[in-house]
Order: sequence, then structure tokens, then C-alpha cells
Amino acid sequence: MDTLMLSSSEKDLIKASELLKNGQVVGIPTETVYGLGADATNPKAVREIFRAKGRPMDNPLIVHISKVDDALKIAKNIPQIFFDLAEKFWSGALTMIVPKKDIIPYETSGGLDTVGIRMPSHPIAKRLIELSGVPISAPSANTSGYPSPTTAQHVLHDMNGKISAIVDGGECSVGVESTVICFDDSNTVRILRPGYITPQDLQTVAKNVILDKGILSEVNADEKVSSPGMKYKHYSPTADVKILEGNLNSFIEYVSKHNQDGVYSLIFESDVKNFPFKYLSYGDSDLEHAQQIFSKLRELDTLNAKVVYVRKPNLDGVGLAVYNRLIRASAFEIIKL
Ligand code: TXA
Ligand code: MG
Repeated sequence: MDTLMLSSSEKDLIKASELLKNGQVVGIPTETVYGLGADATNPKAVREIFRAKGRPMDNPLIVHISKVDDALKIAKNIPQIFFDLAEKFWSGALTMIVPKKDIIPYETSGGLDTVGIRMPSHPIAKRLIELSGVPISAPSANTSGYPSPTTAQHVLHDMNGKISAIVDGGECSVGVESTVICFDDSNTVRILRPGYITPQDLQTVAKNVILDKGILSEVNADEKVSSPGMKYKHYSPTADVKILEGNLNSFIEYVSKHNQDGVYSLIFESDVKNFPFKYLSYGDSDLEHAQQIFSKLRELDTLNAKVVYVRKPNLDGVGLAVYNRLIRASAFEIIKL
């Protein structure tokens, strides 16, 4: 199958929405990362997403809606705190897990009785959901295990020939995926995956905010997890990623001892001046790190990097999400200097 590259013109969005209505898979821009969209109520269409990504069938998909009321069509027993959080953070990078209705097939929910719901803020994503008239399930549009895509070209790289079309909406503004939460009780939010909406943000609405232990530590393949995504290899380029924890001087000293062909460093923009080895930088602030991390990991593969030493980001704000992705990209290989 040839993968069609579509623009964000209304004519092309109508075309993309027709493909979605017909059970096809379309790459779609969102404010976080690109998604692989399909009709969330159509099991056959959803199976095509898993096939294109090479994703394990027990890893559930997020369902995207364009208005809050649509949550009532796909979920039941929704607690009040869901609506309070929606009021404050939707449309945006927050995914909330609640009990699903039968209209959401088990293909979409990875066999679970729950569904993760998000209302994206990207105008193209919103328009596509509206035009298609169905909820859209969309995981990140990368091959399973590889860094998430933040441009249409990244999606084409991974999905060429595997999906019907890609809508090019330019670069994603956030760069890391949404924050995924569930509710332990009516006042307690549990973060299953940190994202653009931070624990501090959530605390302005929820009385208790808990970080699940799977966020910063490795879970065993046979361990019971709150979110299946925690079990799987994630975000890894072909290059071997290692996080170095320490200051710039100790970083330079370590790299000088281990410098050989194919070694690159992923450093902060403020480190760049006089940095003596091959490098890419991923900005200075937590927001810049988020925006650049996945595209830099992909770029390192195009440079044929073999080993990548990464400066550990600050964990404040969105930095927690960046670090959560990096520790998985590195298969939990963190070297304390
Ligand atoms: O920003 C985003 O969230 C992007 C864009 C495209 O919206 N989507 C995304 O989807 O990152 P995906 O499939 O790559 O990651 C969804 C994560 C997975 O780790 C999955 O296990 C978890 O959310 N998840 C989804 N539904 C769940 C559920 N019902 N229960 C527990 N975890 C769930
Ligand atoms: Mg993903």
C-alpha cells in the first residue's frame, strides 16, 4: 500500500476523515506527538494499528474525542474529579482512565475493562475527530519500541507502506506524550505515565497525587502493573543510550575515557561552548528537552551513533516525563559519576 501524504487543508482533512470512517489507519498530528489514528469503535481498524506498529495486543490504546460530552458515550461510572480535571486541562495533554462502555471493543482496550480518554488541543486533530464523527484511538505513530514521532517525516520513516495516509501538521509543540492517570478514589489521582501536565498541575485540582512506582523503576515482565505500557521496551534508538548523572566536568572526563568511533553525547545547549567531542544538544529548559528529545534520539541513528552519553535532565516540571522516557531508552542504564 502506498502511504499518501496529506496536507492540513480542509479538503485533505475531509479525505483523511473519510479514510478513518472506512476503517483505515491515518497518521495524525497532535500537540504531544503524532498518533496512528483509527476508528476506536471498529475492531478491524484497531487491529490494523497493532499490525502497523508491531505492538503487543495487550497494550491498550488511548481514545481521542473532540468534546467532553463524548466521554459519556464511551465510558461509564465516571467520577466527578474526571470532569474537574477536564475543565482545567482539556483540551490538552491529559489522558484519564475510566471504566469503558461496550462500544469500545476489547481490541482497543487491550482486553481491559477500562479506557484511557484524551481530548487533544491540536486544531488538526480536533477537526479530524469532528469530521470523522467517531472516537479515534491513537497510540504514538512510531514502530513499537522506537522513539515517538514529532514530525510527519518521522511517521513516514516508520510507517511508509504500512498505513493509508499521514496528515502533515508540522512539528509537534510539546514533544512528549500526554500524562496518563487513573483514579484510586474520588480524591486521588495516580500518575501512570508522566507527561506535559505535571504532578504540580494536577495538585491544583486533586487532593492527592501519587506517582506509580513503575514511572521511575523497571518492572519485571511477569509483574502486575497498573498500565501495560510499563512492561515494554520503549523509545530506544538503535544506538546504545546511557545516562550520565553528574556535572559537566565529570561528564567530559567520563566521555574522554570512553571516546571511540561512533560515540556521541546528548548535552544541554549551555554545554555546547568548547565541548570537545561529537554531540547533539537538546536545549536547556525542561520544555526544550521535551520538545527535542525524540527527534534528537532519531537524529543520532541517522548519524550512525553507536553509543550515546546523555546528560541527565532536571526532574522538575516536564523534566520528569523526559527522564521517564530517557531511562527506558537507556534500558535503565544510569551511570553515577
Ligand atoms: O500524547 C499521547 O498520549 C499520544 C498521542 C498520540 O495522543 N498517544 C500515546 O499513546 O502516547 P501510546 O499508546 O503510545 O501510549 C499510551 C499509554 C500506554 O503506555 C498504555 O499502556 C497506557 O497509555 N494506557 C492506555 N490505556 C490504558 C488503560 N485503559 N489502562 C492502563 N494504561 C493505559
Ligand atoms: Mg507510545
